[in-house]
Amino acid sequence: MTFTEKDEALVKESWDIMKQNIPEYSLRFFSIILEIAPAAKNMFSFLRDSEEVLQNNPKLKAHAVKVFKMTCESAIQLREKGEVVVGETTLKYLGAIHLKNGVIDPHFEVVKQALLRTIEEASGDKWSEELKCAWSVAYDHLAAAIKAEMKEEV
Ligand code: HEM
Repeated sequence: MTFTEKDEALVKESWDIMKQNIPEYSLRFFSIILEIAPAAKNMFSFLRDSEEVLQNNPKLKAHAVKVFKMTCESAIQLREKGEVVVGETTLKYLGAIHLKNGVIDPHFEVVKQALLRTIEEASGDKWSEELKCAWSVAYDHLAAAIKAEMKEEV
């Protein structure tokens, strides 16, 4: 499947909406992750020790922003190059950090569902099957690159 200019524009447009309210959408993103997989709470250093998902927690925001932003970047690359190219060091780092924190393949599906639901809520009546598909494809490519690196680390 080719990733078109329109797909890229759709992803960028919705990321622009979300960027305007990072605290709210980061919190939503993590709340949905925990709704789908409550046990994931223990994986994140910033969630482990707290009773609830903390509003305005900088680390929580950082992970949410990175997942969204990197997915957005991979959308741009998919359109420009037809594949996702993450810097060698970055990819190695991503593989290592997730392996170290006990992340396994099915977790990527949970994060994907949370990502899509957050975007659905954020984009309101701009939400469409096409938008969902564009984010899914971009995320799947990025997740595959990280997962491949995690396997190499073992
Ligand atoms: C840490 C990105 C998916 C769990 C990180 C970091 C980055 C990152 C950049 C390092 C944070 C930092 O140094 O500030 C991504 C991207 C993902 C992804 C781009 C998907 C495309 C996942 C998934 C899980 C996960 C599926 C599992 C639920 C974690 C955990 C940490 C981490 C537990 C350590 C956070 C901490 O305790 O401080 N991730 N991640 N990530 N990630 Fe991900």
